[in-house]
Amino acid sequence: MNTKLNFDDWDSSISQPAASATTHSPTQSVANIGTSLAPINAQDKRIVNGQADINQLAPFKYPWAWEFFLNANKNHWTPLEVSMAQDVHDYQHKLTSAERHVFENVLAYLTTSDILAMRNIGLAVMEKMSAPELQIYQARQVYEEALHTWTYQHCIETLGIDQQEIYNRYRVIPALHGKIALANRRLERVMRSDFDLRDRDNLHEFALSYLFFAGIFEGCWFYNGFTPIFALQRRGLMKGTAEQLQYIMRDEVLHCAFGIRVVRELLKEENLTLDPVQVKQLWEEAEAAESAYAQYILREPILGYNANLHSAQFRFIANRRARQLGLAEPFPGAENLLPWLDEQANMRKEKNFFETRVTEYQSGGGLSWD
Ligand SMILES: [Fe+2]
Ligand SMILES: [Fe+2]
Repeated sequence: MNTKLNFDDWDSSISQPAASATTHSPTQSVANIGTSLAPINAQDKRIVNGQADINQLAPFKYPWAWEFFLNANKNHWTPLEVSMAQDVHDYQHKLTSAERHVFENVLAYLTTSDILAMRNIGLAVMEKMSAPELQIYQARQVYEEALHTWTYQHCIETLGIDQQEIYNRYRVIPALHGKIALANRRLERVMRSDFDLRDRDNLHEFALSYLFFAGIFEGCWFYNGFTPIFALQRRGLMKGTAEQLQYIMRDEVLHCAFGIRVVRELLKEENLTLDPVQVKQLWEEAEAAESAYAQYILREPILGYNANLHSAQFRFIANRRARQLGLAEPFPGAENLLPWLDEQANMRKEKNFFETRVTEYQSGGGLSWD
């Protein structure tokens, strides 16, 4: 059993992006690859605006991206493999009304946000990448976001929650809608038909958007977003749902790490500096939206968890993401008030984790995320 799992403590080990050794040759283009019949050089690859052959995987310029793809394939499951029987009983007979409120609204938010995450990476990001090793991990990511959407749907259906009501909830409750609307605005900006990454302002907008989705949307909102259900799990409640979320968390931590790596390399490769005013605004908007969300889902505290804890934990995790991005901490002094969250996220208690599994986990022995 792997005892070294630590998905999210990679900020200290992340290597500095290598400086681009060469710039791409303006004479080599995707369009003329077919007629030039010349081999490509790895150093001709670019994250965006590249002209090396997009259909040729190796030689790698970004071998770490391929490693992400290989690692992602060690976490494979379907929601049908996790027993939900006890959750049905817990949901119907054990949860208090405040706990039900938290549980349902977390699911209501998550189920919409994973579709948004899928659309972002699949429609707005992948098409802009010009190195295949980046696109291949992102293709896996698109699948994983769809799998997450299935997982929430499976939980909702298994628990007998009214789908018409729960899927519409984010459309009628401002605190749920606020986070989705903020993300949608970012997504729409980089999906404009006139969006051209050869324009430096657009390039900056794209880097900021990728930073938002990887570092905040996935790195903070998802990471922190599962916590209320982990708080129930710690008290022996809704353990099947929580286990499903632990699988999802593994994927999300990788999505976040990969995205942050891409942003860092992109900034280096393009000699681009993020506007600190816009970055500050990004963190502040995200915190305001998360705090409004926390006040709603935890309008009544549940045992061991409340809105202030949730917001404080957002700020703590946001600082971690900023460090990983090589940026200043947006919330200096934020404390880790929920030290158990990282352990839950990293699933160090792997043996316990597998106790609730109804089928054998095929690739568990190969897990190594360091
Ligand atoms: Fe997801
Ligand atoms: Fe994700």
